[in-house]
Amino acid sequence: MNDHASPKLEILPVEGLPEFGPGDDLTGAIADAARWLRSGDVVVVTSKVVSKTEGMLHRVPADPELRDAARRKLVESESVRVIARINRTVITENRLGIVQAASGVDASNVAGDTIATLPADPDASALALRNGLRERLGVEVAVVITDTMGRAWRVGQTDAAIGSSGLRVLHAYAGQVDSQGNELAVTEVAVADELAAAADLVKGKLGGTPVAVVRGLTLTDDGSTARDLIRPTGEDLFRLGTNEAIEQGRREAVLVRRSVRSFTSEPVDPDVLRRAIGAALTAPAPHHTRPVRFVWLRSRPVRDKLLEAMRDRWRADLAGDGFTEEQITKRISRGDILFDAPEVVVPFLLPDGMHTYSDERRNACENTMFTVAGGAAVQGLLIALAAEGLGSCWIGSTIFAADTVRQTLDLAAGWRPLGAVAIGHPADGPAGPRPPREPGDWLVEL
Ligand SMILES: Cc1cc2nc3c(=O)[nH]c(=O)nc-3n(C[C@H](O)[C@H](O)[C@H](O)COP(=O)(O)O)c2cc1C
Repeated sequence: MNDHASPKLEILPVEGLPEFGPGDDLTGAIADAARWLRSGDVVVVTSKVVSKTEGMLHRVPADPELRDAARRKLVESESVRVIARINRTVITENRLGIVQAASGVDASNVAGDTIATLPADPDASALALRNGLRERLGVEVAVVITDTMGRAWRVGQTDAAIGSSGLRVLHAYAGQVDSQGNELAVTEVAVADELAAAADLVKGKLGGTPVAVVRGLTLTDDGSTARDLIRPTGEDLFRLGTNEAIEQGRREAVLVRRSVRSFTSEPVDPDVLRRAIGAALTAPAPHHTRPVRFVWLRSRPVRDKLLEAMRDRWRADLAGDGFTEEQITKRISRGDILFDAPEVVVPFLLPDGMHTYSDERRNACENTMFTVAGGAAVQGLLIALAAEGLGSCWIGSTIFAADTVRQTLDLAAGWRPLGAVAIGHPADGPAGPRPPREPGDWLVEL
């Protein structure tokens, strides 16, 4: 069996290293302090000393407030993406692709007027140190460069590998069988991270011992480096923090709606549709009224009866306009979507609560006010459906056949249809958000 464990390990501190500064010879210092290094050893180095010798120290004001402001600026410049903000902690993906607090920017174990950022290329630093130790001491070691990180879902931090050279960073057990005969299908041990964490137990955090050596591991070098431990964004189920995911969802809610005119045959979950209607019914309306009703044509015969009656009516209107039979058939086919869609909901506006005035001008205004409220509710329905991953298209036809609709569905004279909404799972899959439109001339700012 090919196990990553060793029968016995030793973790040895490299003692007597100096305080490092920009340009200092880290390799020379480690070689001098650890002449006892042997081939097969893993030299584990705190990234802070690499940062210091490679000049990744930034001079900042000593005043605590100004220093903190400078630190926040560095966190921002070192990050490519903010994953989460929790109180004062910012979790980012930094320029190395590593997800951790504050982009790895650190004000500990440095002078009060400096702040350290991570090495420019920790894998390259590890390789250089490994080559340097081979040159000076004639040993073939592996090198791991570490930083301290928190773990999602677990309290406390551990050290992890951010740079490495000379060892296989992952030990995959796929296809292997344990002593009980179980296949270890998904186990993949992050050996480089385990080494980083183990060495930290000797190095500590108070600055005295930035380097430790793990001895006793059977080393294999497959050319992998710490960069291979970064989970690709596409495979990351938790690309965003919870708050950020909610914010993104809010920002995109309106933008994911679009007219979908082609659906799969997958049935629509009635509870999801009800939830979307519930959301739509929160739309604003005048005088604290609730003037909108949604009629869900769940019975296929009822739907067909309505659509056929509307089709006859439309056909008669078009014939009256002088269209040819061919033109009429072509136009009528545009209504097929309401026959084909998995579900159809017809929104109505009721006059309940409408004010009446002694003059026609104000009555017309009242009418407009209620009509726009109906539109708001329908748009709310479309957005709520899109947010649930359902496609929809608002079809205007019932507006042109209001009498037919009321008659067929046996509704009172006041019920004004506001179109019909075709609903289903989009044939092309759920759509991503569209970019918002440039307001341009469509926004008049006075
Ligand atoms: C009141 C109203 C009636 C509509 N009627 C129809 C229709 O009868 N047939 C149709 O295919 N689309 C209809 N639409 C959808 C528009 O064509 C669609 O919103 C427009 O092309 C913009 O595309 P988008 O919804 O993807 O942004 C209607 C939209 C509204 C608001």
